[in-house]
Amino acid sequence: MNTHPVNTNLAEYYAKRAQEYERVYDKPERQPDLGRLKQALKAALRNETVLEIACGTGYWTHCLAETAAAILATDINGPVIDVAKAKRYPRDNVDFAIADCYTLAGINDGFSAAFGGFIWSHVPLEKLPSFLETLHAKVKTGGKIVFIDNAYVAGNSTPVSRTDEIGNTYQRRVLQDGSAHLVLKNFPAEAQIRSLLEGKAAQIAFTQLPYYWYLVYTVG
Ligand SMILES: C[S@@+](CC[C@H](N)C(=O)[O-])C[C@H]1O[C@@H](n2cnc3c(N)ncnc32)[C@H](O)[C@@H]1O
Repeated sequence: MNTHPVNTNLAEYYAKRAQEYERVYDKPERQPDLGRLKQALKAALRNETVLEIACGTGYWTHCLAETAAAILATDINGPVIDVAKAKRYPRDNVDFAIADCYTLAGINDGFSAAFGGFIWSHVPLEKLPSFLETLHAKVKTGGKIVFIDNAYVAGNSTPVSRTDEIGNTYQRRVLQDGSAHLVLKNFPAEAQIRSLLEGKAAQIAFTQLPYYWYLVYTVG
């Protein structure tokens, strides 16, 4: 029997994981997909003024900064932003701010684009409509929104250990310090995403890769 308490606080989990987070991008079998994602993001957000939510340690911020005009990279956690800030951004086009993606309080509107990497999957199903509404409000009409996230790959992804009554799925994850966390992690189908965006978005392009998916659309 496991007697260790399991933490379910997502923000706390990522604060604790800050120093070990980017190992997730070292998996050899995922390198071709990651290369494709980088090319797609750099092309989609070229010359855009981007609001990035849940930027974490800045892995994608660093990539986007190569082509975006400017990025405001935000996250709820100071410790992950500290890691992101320590990276070099040769074009000097990145600013950082602490922000909760469910409110985006204190963040200006009028961005030409927004980006969220691996956050959609952590949003409870029942909160997705208001999460998207909050994000869309920060972007000009016709502005571009880009999300990337994980596909569930049996035998490779961390198994789903629980499904709640709404349909949210959870994984049990253990950090290097031995602490155990029950992390809400959903794996939406393209049809679910499209139905959620109905009436709110145009030019929706969904791309499925072996290990990831990416989504580009404009705010309607
Ligand atoms: C899976 S990580 C993704 C980090 C980064 N975007 C990437 O793809 O490498 C999820 C991030 O969401 C952040 N986060 C969790 N809850 C949040 C919230 N309510 N508002 C903003 N960020 C949040 C965590 O601190 C963490 O950095």
